[in-house]
Amino acid sequence: MPGPILIAPSVLSADFARLADGVAAVEQAGADAIHVDVMDGHFVPNLTIGPPVIRALSRIATVPLDVHLMIDDADTTVDWYLDAGAQWVTVHVEACDHLHRVVQRIKAYGARAGVALNPATPPELLTEVIGELDLVLVMSVNPGFGGQAFIPSSVDKVSRVAAMVHGAGGHALIEVDGGIDEATAPLVVRAGARVLVAGNAIFGVADPAAGLHAVRAAAETAAR
Ligand code: DX5
Ligand code: ZN
Repeated sequence: MPGPILIAPSVLSADFARLADGVAAVEQAGADAIHVDVMDGHFVPNLTIGPPVIRALSRIATVPLDVHLMIDDADTTVDWYLDAGAQWVTVHVEACDHLHRVVQRIKAYGARAGVALNPATPPELLTEVIGELDLVLVMSVNPGFGGQAFIPSSVDKVSRVAAMVHGAGGHALIEVDGGIDEATAPLVVRAGARVLVAGNAIFGVADPAAGLHAVRAAAETAAR
């Protein structure tokens, strides 16, 4: 699959008291987007940030905010995140009663529309919408927390999603989120992933720029 590798550092692993510094550091290191994990304490067993913080981040970020909505009823609240400045918006297929409608809503706003799949969710649930998506996010951990171990079966899932996108004549980029580091990035890139989310591998090390460069180098070598 052609196309550049895009790296989206997840600020879930950054210092929440110094978010602007974290964003600036990874932007200077070449981040392509800033991944923002929204958790509601219902769809996932954790509670993180919401529209006010996204609005604040949108004022300082110079690359798109890649907003990952791990929330119930995204159908009814997606506008909050769009209004707050999210440029890429991903909803979970498991959490939307009206997936087609919410995807159209995101696109009508001029944002990129993504749909995420939990590890136990079959890609076939996306059959009817995959041709219209900008992103398919394959979760390679069960969502809720940073720093979890990569689930190996995610590699085959990325391959199957890539085949589905191709078969539908779609343009969606495949994004992978969870346990991405120097060792796992090449595996998912070879399977067709082009957007890599990394939290711990970037913000969990002493020098986030060096962490980002290491993930990118491993991914780009695998893409060649
Ligand atoms: C997990 C979140 C991820 C998380 C990834 O539920 O969706 O974006 O921040 O963190 P790492 O890269 O540490 O697995
Ligand atoms: Zn995420």
